[in-house]
Amino acid sequence: MRVYCCLNQKGGVGKSTTTYNLGAGLALAGKKVLLIDLDPQANMTKFLGVSADNGSITDLLTGMKKAKDIIIRRSENLAVIPSSISLSGAEFKLFAEPGRELLLKEAMDGIKGFDYCLIDCPPSLGLLTVNALTWAKDIIIILQPEFAPLEGVANLVDTIRVVKQRLNKSIDISGVIITMYDSRIRLHKEVCEEVGRHFNNKVYATKISRRSVLAEAPSHGKTIFEYASKDAASKAFTELSQEFIDRSGKK
Ligand SMILES: Nc1ncnc2c1ncn2[C@@H]1O[C@H](COP(=O)(O)OP(=O)(O)OP(=O)(O)O)[C@@H](O)[C@H]1O
Ligand SMILES: [Mg+2]
Repeated sequence: MRVYCCLNQKGGVGKSTTTYNLGAGLALAGKKVLLIDLDPQANMTKFLGVSADNGSITDLLTGMKKAKDIIIRRSENLAVIPSSISLSGAEFKLFAEPGRELLLKEAMDGIKGFDYCLIDCPPSLGLLTVNALTWAKDIIIILQPEFAPLEGVANLVDTIRVVKQRLNKSIDISGVIITMYDSRIRLHKEVCEEVGRHFNNKVYATKISRRSVLAEAPSHGKTIFEYASKDAASKAFTELSQEFIDRSGKK
């Protein structure tokens, strides 16, 4: 199982929207996918229309439940570990635990049967994100093409460097996905060029446009493929999934 952290410490850039639809696209392409919601806001959990009544990532990190008992089968190829607001209190308590950076990695030990695991990280570089970075091998940065997109990324790159030195030598940025893109806006083109210069071939050729259906689908607890299968947004996520699979085979 290849484990990917989908992150950007900036809030509201489209991480959860991109992560769950990419997961759904990979599942439709025949891959076995596990989505983990690691954000106390539990947005991805709501987007997918699943509930944390039988246990959440909080129970997993606090050792109250085992991963296999809280994984929800959303469809044949798509499974989810949901989050809940209780995670924010738990993060605070877990801070006092020895080995607190290893909790996710240890809790997921032995979980098999998936090709990819995508972790929807919270918009911060706190303990939860560090847990994801300690377990995963790949990082996908999700960026919105706005003014100074690389400003916050410097902090992120610093955090990754520290995690790499102390906790996980294998971690690396493997991709950058641009979302809420509008080709008619000159700034968006310029920002994409800047991001391209900085990250070179790590930037995905497939960009996700700003489309209202992508904001509507979550309120119905549906993926973009379930909500608007004929829309250009579904086509874009199918292409993104294919590019993801191609890139994952090359590393
Ligand atoms: N490509 C898109 N087109 C239109 N709306 C989008 C798109 N991507 C995300 N949105 C909307 O933008 C808002 C923020 O998206 P999302 O929740 O995915 O961001 P996030 O980075 O996960 O936020 P947070 O940092 O709070 O976790 C949501 O209202 C979502 O519906
Ligand atoms: Mg989010």
